Amino acid sequence: DFKSLWGGRFTGGMDPLMALYNASFPYDKKMYAADLEGTKVYTAGLHKLGLLNDYELSEIHRGLGVILKEWESNSFEEKQDDEDIHTANERRLGEIIGREIAGKVHTGRSRNDQVATDMRIYVREQLIEIKKILKELLSVFVSRAEVEIDVLMPGYTHLQRAQPIRWSHWLLSYATYLVSDLQRLEQLIDRVNLSPLGCGALAGHPYGIDREYLASELGFNGLVTNSLTAVSDRDFVVETMFWGSLFMNHLSRFSEDMIIYSTAEFGFIDLADAYSTGSSLMPQKKNPDSLELLRGKSGRVFGGLAGFMMTLKSLPSTYDKDLQEDKEPLFDALTTVSHSILIATGVLSTLKVNADKMLAALTPDMLATDLADYLVRKGVPFRETHHISGAVVRLAEVMAVRGIDKLSLEELQSVDARFGEDVRGEVFDYEKSVERRNAIGGTAKSAVFDQVSRIRKLL
Ligand code: ARG
Repeated sequence: DFKSLWGGRFTGGMDPLMALYNASFPYDKKMYAADLEGTKVYTAGLHKLGLLNDYELSEIHRGLGVILKEWESNSFEEKQDDEDIHTANERRLGEIIGREIAGKVHTGRSRNDQVATDMRIYVREQLIEIKKILKELLSVFVSRAEVEIDVLMPGYTHLQRAQPIRWSHWLLSYATYLVSDLQRLEQLIDRVNLSPLGCGALAGHPYGIDREYLASELGFNGLVTNSLTAVSDRDFVVETMFWGSLFMNHLSRFSEDMIIYSTAEFGFIDLADAYSTGSSLMPQKKNPDSLELLRGKSGRVFGGLAGFMMTLKSLPSTYDKDLQEDKEPLFDALTTVSHSILIATGVLSTLKVNADKMLAALTPDMLATDLADYLVRKGVPFRETHHISGAVVRLAEVMAVRGIDKLSLEELQSVDARFGEDVRGEVFDYEKSVERRNAIGGTAKSAVFDQVSRIRKLL
């Protein structure tokens, strides 16, 4: 009967609870394809060394192909003793091609370099997929920004009305975060994409395997050179979860804005029914659950990062079983991030913008800075104009008129004689206010379109 991979020195069986506690198969089986691919290339490397003959190699590759089909058709039969994906695939290979030949595939290899290799292949693949859907999300941002360029809204600081901006400008503020996520992701993929294969358990390969060959066959860009590091380095796991944490943080802030904007008090946006839920008690309710989950799940991804950092801290050299704890938080983070990108894409591409509500939320006092700038253009120092404009705001308050734009020219001139006839047309116009901010990165139409085209170039 089949002996466990490491059973030679053992006499007693394992405590059944310990077997469960020890097994990673329930969650690492999703790396089946990476594991088979790794073994395929590794055995080709052994063949190059003369450690496998042509027949043995072709049998192994045939067997690996059969196993892949079984996994893909959901017919791989799992056994009680399958400790992890590596032991399960090797057990199955023995059943298909016979243990005589299957027993040779692990020559010079350890599950330590094997699991590190599998994970890097798997994570690389997931991150490439994430990159693709992230670009799709970004393209929704820029398309909306283009189409809805004319919509004006209040911009906030401290969540208090500050200055008028374009809705598109607000959208692109989040797209800008996502652009740096995209760039960071590309750099991350490069660091994930290094091969630990051919390092054995820790000390290196005793038959001089061609690690460069293994790496290039597996699509890696280079090696994790030092064999001790290669088997124990999980920085790529940490970095992936950090990447996810920061990305989710961006989605979380974006969601928070939209949750506020979707309240009846704001009414700036309406979420599509497809991304909302109702209340079991209050018939009138329409809740932004999608956004709340995007906001809430950022905590979960960061929690995984923090937890695994604690696991890594103080681990002694090379492989320790603690490292098996990398998988669940990592896989959970990858799934959470992917799902969140898809949900955010759905939410953003279906929500309705209430341009008139946004416009109605603009108030003339949001133009107080523009009023100050009006006098700056007449040569008055800004510090002075700031005070003058403040005095105008106060006057409007004292006179209980509904905004600084309701003051007559005489009243304005009572504060400062340099206000002229043109003040009304020049200052009290939201569109003009926005259009004056035309330096790079500003909220004027031209500056927003410039942002759109900068982002488009990256997609
Ligand atoms: N399932 C293990 C893990 O995920 C594979 C490596 C086992 N290596 C060992 N020396 N026990 O880390």
